[in-house]
Amino acid sequence: VTTDLHYLARDLHDEGPAFRRFVEGGDGKDLVHIDAILDAFAGELSLLGPDLLIVTGDLTNNGERKSHLAVAARLAAIQARGVHVLVLPGNHDIKNPYARGFVGGRQVPVETIGPEDFASIYAPFGYTEALSRDGASLSYLAAADAGLWILMLDSNHYLENAAARRPVTGGSLGPETLAWIGQCALRAKAAGARLAVAMHHSLLDHSSVITRGFTLENGEEVASLLAGLGIELVMTGHIHIQDVARAERGGERIWDVATNALSVYPHQYGLLAFSQAEASFSYETRRVDVAAWARAGGSTDPELLGFASYAEASFKARAVAMAARVFEGGVYTASERRAIEEALGTLNARYFAGRQGENRGDPDLAPGLGLLLDLPSGFMAAYAESILNDDGMDDNRFSTRP
Ligand SMILES: [Fe+2]
Repeated sequence: VTTDLHYLARDLHDEGPAFRRFVEGGDGKDLVHIDAILDAFAGELSLLGPDLLIVTGDLTNNGERKSHLAVAARLAAIQARGVHVLVLPGNHDIKNPYARGFVGGRQVPVETIGPEDFASIYAPFGYTEALSRDGASLSYLAAADAGLWILMLDSNHYLENAAARRPVTGGSLGPETLAWIGQCALRAKAAGARLAVAMHHSLLDHSSVITRGFTLENGEEVASLLAGLGIELVMTGHIHIQDVARAERGGERIWDVATNALSVYPHQYGLLAFSQAEASFSYETRRVDVAAWARAGGSTDPELLGFASYAEASFKARAVAMAARVFEGGVYTASERRAIEEALGTLNARYFAGRQGENRGDPDLAPGLGLLLDLPSGFMAAYAESILNDDGMDDNRFSTRP
């Protein structure tokens, strides 16, 4: 299971200043090394030999047609090696007014795609083989094997993008799609197949502060519907962090696993196993080993050869910009500023890796964290608090076995 590749076609940028500015001012997507990350990932898939690869949207940076064609070519190579691929759109993939190329110091608008284009570009990765397609969205039903069917749900609002002049963040599932899901569930039951769900937006909250635009607008309704249909597992992306959430609806348990964005530190994916005999799923994460891939290919690039530490250091360095927002709220000495940046960087990096439990009682965090949490108000204090008070579930491993 992977998500949020946010691929930008190599010929849509020249590594120039506009591209660098976009990457440095962005939300942590490593578009500089995305080709290496995807090459290494594809190599690991060849070794692991899974039956299926599920990609839960945001295949492209901002829906550029050229990026889609490049992603489809990469997926075709993976499928040619025997891995069945199923994809979904994310909120950045279709009718995106932000589709851009980067030339020297300028951003240049480039062609995006419509929903029909998505289904045709990715025809070999779910749309052609679909057992059923929803009439109201790009949702479809696919068979992973005889005993496991996957509902690939399109939760995006791309038809609102043009009026909003941006890729709308929020998502929901409309009434037609919900009715179609009910029909699919009946069909799966008649065929004796288990159902699991994949979609871009979160079904359940993965954070106490980052919810609006991330959790499905009608998440409560959809969670009750899915749990009532006996669906236990929902695989999602969109929020870019690694997080496992679980809820009970009408006495039934339902899991929503948000897998870390492949383009964002720590660049990990999920290994999902389905046991037909136990009718259960188990899941664990694995980091893409970019350094091993670089070594095997004879690379001399120090960033690739030491990718794990490079990625961690550059992701933590983003905290300098994040902390700038904190500094607006008070007067700090230079050493206090450094301590806050350090604490925020570590807190945030562990959060994205689903390892925020390591923050509790970490003496190295204490000075900066104290200052951060003492702020009377502001998003950063609430964000830090939400990470520290996370639910304590293991975000990198779970099983639906009772
Ligand atoms: Fe994304």
